Amino acid sequence: MSDLQITNLYKRYGNVEVLKDINLDIKSGEFIVFVGPSGCGKSTLLRTISGLETISAGQLEIGGRVVNDVAPSKRGIAMVFQSYALYPHMTVFDNMAYSLKLTRTPKDEIRKKVEAAAEMLQLGPYLERLPKALSGGQRQRVAIGRAIVRNPQVFLFDEPLSNLDAALRVATRMEIAKLKESLPGTTMVYVTHDQVEAMTLADRIVVLKDGVVMQVGTPMELYDHPQSLFVAGFIGSPKMNFLTGKNAESYKATTVGVRPEHMEIVPAGKGVWSGKVIYSEDLGSDSFIYVDIGEEDAIIIRQEGKTPYKSGAQISFAPKGDLYHLFDKAGKPMTTGASAPARATPAAKSAKPANPTTQGTPDEGVVGGAGAVAMPAKPARKPAAKAKTATPKAGAVKTAAAKKAPVRKAPAKPKV
Ligand SMILES: Nc1ncnc2c1ncn2[C@@H]1O[C@H](COP(=O)(O)OP(=O)(O)O)[C@@H](O)[C@H]1O
Ligand SMILES: [Mg+2]
Repeated sequence: MSDLQITNLYKRYGNVEVLKDINLDIKSGEFIVFVGPSGCGKSTLLRTISGLETISAGQLEIGGRVVNDVAPSKRGIAMVFQSYALYPHMTVFDNMAYSLKLTRTPKDEIRKKVEAAAEMLQLGPYLERLPKALSGGQRQRVAIGRAIVRNPQVFLFDEPLSNLDAALRVATRMEIAKLKESLPGTTMVYVTHDQVEAMTLADRIVVLKDGVVMQVGTPMELYDHPQSLFVAGFIGSPKMNFLTGKNAESYKATTVGVRPEHMEIVPAGKGVWSGKVIYSEDLGSDSFIYVDIGEEDAIIIRQEGKTPYKSGAQISFAPKGDLYHLFDKAGKPMTTGASAPARATPAAKSAKPANPTTQGTPDEGVVGGAGAVAMPAKPARKPAAKAKTATPKAGAVKTAAAKKAPVRKAPAKPKV
C-alpha cells in the first residue's frame, strides 16, 4: 500500500512560512498533480514528501507509516527532477543500473529490470549509448527509467518536462501518461506550473497558491466548478474572462467568469456585452477574438474554425446558455452548495424580474450554504442562446457548439 496522507503540514524557513496547513489524502495508485504559479511551494511540498526537506509541523504518512523522521532512502520513493543529471561517462544501461549495483542486486536481475524499464520507455535501442548522444526527451526518459528500476511505491516528479522543447514535451508527456498505465499500483505525485500538463495527466489536481491548497479535484471538477477566482483563472487556456463592475451588474455578481470557449457572438444588440474587436487570431482549427469592453484585459472569445471578425468590428456577445460562473466580492462562487455548479441560469424571458428583497446577496450565498443563493438577475439584454446568429458561418458553429453545451437547472430561488 502506498497511500500518502499529509496532515496539518507546515514548512518554515526561519520566519517565512512556505507551506501552510496542508492536508491531503492521496490514494494508492493515484496520479496527483501539484500545480500553481512559480514560488507557491510545489517543490517544497514534494521535497517534504521525499524527505529531502524536514517538516516544521504536522504529519506525513506513507503506506500507513508515519515517516516524518524516516530517511529519504527508506521511504520507498523515487524522484525525477527537471534537470536529469545523468552520469555522462556511463551508458544508458549503466545509468539505469547504477542504483541497483549499489544495492548489490544480482547481475541477471539488474539486466531484467533495466530491460523492462527500457522497453516501457522505448529506450531499448539506446542502451549502449552515452547520454550526450541522446535528445533531451530521451535523456529525461533515462532519468525516469533510473527511477523505475528501483520499483518505488511512490514516484515523485518535479517539473520533469520543463527543460524540453514544445514537441518533446508533448511526446514525453505521453510517455508519462503511458507509464501511469504500466505501473497501476504506483502512486505518482507530479509537480508542474503548466496547467495543460496538470489537466492531461492528473487523476486529481491540487492547486496551490502562496503555500496554501486552494482546491483539490479532478481536472473536470476544477474546470466546471472552480471554488475561487484564482482557480477559475488558473485552470483553462486561454484563461477565463472576468467581467466586473458595470459589466457584471446585470448578474448581481461582483465578477462574472466566462471561458473563451463559452462565449458566443450574436446579432448586434442581442448580447449581454458588446465591444470593439482589437485583434483576432486565426489558428485554422479555431480562432481567438480579442474584444475591448473596458475591462483591464481584453475579453477573449473562441470560435471553432476561422473567424470573419477582424480588428475594428463592433460585436455583441454573451455566454452560451448557462455556461458562466458568478463570484462574490470575496472571490468565492455564488452557489447553492457542493452539488450545485458555480454558475446559474440567467432568468429566462418568462421569469419574473429579480426582486432585491428576495435575492440573496453574494455573501449570503457563500456563508448561508445550501439553498442560500442567488438566482442571478435577468441580464440587461436577452440571453444569447435563443438569439439568431450574426452570420451563417458563425451560425453553423454556434448550433454545433450550443448542442453540446450541458444544460443545467437553475438553482432554487432563495427563501427569505
Ligand atoms: N531553502 C530555502 N530557504 C528559504 N526560502 C526558501 C527555500 N527554498 C524555497 N524557499 C521559498 O519557498 C517558496 C516556495 O518555493 P518552491 O517550493 O521552490 O516553489 P515552486 O516549486 O512552487 O516554484 C519560495 O518563495 C522560495 O523562495
Ligand atoms: Mg519548483
